[in-house]
Amino acid sequence: MSNTQSQAYPVWSNRLTYILATTGAAVGLGNIWKFPYIAGENGGGAFVLMYLLCILLLGIPIMIAEVMLGRKGRANPIHAVLAQARAAGLSKGWSFIGIMGVAAGIMILMFYSVVAGWSLEYVVQSASSSYMDKTPADVAAGFGELAKDGSRQLIWHSVFLMATAAIVGLGVTRGIGNAVNILMPVLFLLLLSLLVYSYQNGNFSEALNFMFSADFSKLTGDSVLVAMGHAFFTLSLGMGTVMVYGSYMPENQSIPGAVVTVAFLDTLIALIAGMTIFPLVFASGLEPGSGPGLLFETLPIAFSKMWGGAFFGAGFFLLISIAALSSSISLIEPGISWLEKLGIKRMAATIGLTVLCWIGGAASIYSAEVFDTLDHLTSNIMLPLGGLLIAIFVGWRLGYTRVRKEVSGGSNMLFNLWFIVLRFVAPIGVMLVFYESIKNILASYGII
Ligand code: PHE
Repeated sequence: MSNTQSQAYPVWSNRLTYILATTGAAVGLGNIWKFPYIAGENGGGAFVLMYLLCILLLGIPIMIAEVMLGRKGRANPIHAVLAQARAAGLSKGWSFIGIMGVAAGIMILMFYSVVAGWSLEYVVQSASSSYMDKTPADVAAGFGELAKDGSRQLIWHSVFLMATAAIVGLGVTRGIGNAVNILMPVLFLLLLSLLVYSYQNGNFSEALNFMFSADFSKLTGDSVLVAMGHAFFTLSLGMGTVMVYGSYMPENQSIPGAVVTVAFLDTLIALIAGMTIFPLVFASGLEPGSGPGLLFETLPIAFSKMWGGAFFGAGFFLLISIAALSSSISLIEPGISWLEKLGIKRMAATIGLTVLCWIGGAASIYSAEVFDTLDHLTSNIMLPLGGLLIAIFVGWRLGYTRVRKEVSGGSNMLFNLWFIVLRFVAPIGVMLVFYESIKNILASYGII
């Protein structure tokens, strides 16, 4: 049906749908799985403050630039950047931003879908009370068993990818637009109910203290860089998602207004997720700094000891699955939109890319090395590099007037402030993340 070459380019049916879709892309495993555990590992409050600063100084400015490129181009990331470069008389090479973005989306989905699969498994395990009567050690060991059980992971990975493909295959407005209009309200409701549950059953004051009392002595140079990298990942920046969703944005919507709303909601949800998870962790006398296993090892222990744990545990893992689904559809969309432009039917493009992700996911199930490489390569290199190039392209190459026209509305003073941050603060910040990432990778291979 929707070969967009022969039809008008799709536009979200209203402004709210744009906000819900982009918030859906932003809110995902990054908020609920990654943010709490990296906050835990990096000592809490001071780290949270750094992360908020990074969202404000790097995330929001670059996000405005990325959305602008998409809406101005009304095309997939590769063709959108190409058109801008042509119009400004610049090299076609800038389309590398789009090419890398399409690739990064597919590569992230290859491991993202595996983690989403774990949370589906835990929906079932919680609902069937299967970890309820076990000792804490046995509950924690359950995750280790899942990690070794390739075929069980493969089934959930397949289920999750099929759900993603079913939504995306239906098209931008009929598939993604309709899905986020249902998924996002469910997500908000689930999160709020769980917050109340956690408030009543957990140790809320210890969690508040942990998340918001800033002890700067715990802040190392490395945690500042982790905070910056995470600001990119959590806002889905630097890889075309924000651009392609922006290309479907209604003409009369204010870009800065929409971006600030999405960034605010994404941050709020990450903080609420932390305030849902940590009270339960503390009430059960568990460790907040237990790393990536915080969600799948530590939290089930907490649920296993609590009133209503099976029910609320299932609700919690359902919440993660929904958050992951509204992100996974945005990871694959840049690639699909690009293939459509090349004349491939949407359904065929969806199936092709899903199969590719399935193969990559299978590889990351059976090889922890593939999993880690995909994660590190995308989060630590491709997204910061994409963000850096976007900041340079829009801030330094496109020209003030061209940019001012698309980012219209608002006072000149605010616009100028944004432009200065985009030109100077954002690139320098990103280069710092980038430098540190490369150093870490070289060190991990023993090269430096
Ligand atoms: N922002 C998503 C999350 O926090 C991950 C993501 C990254 C989604 C890049 C789309 C693009 O989980």
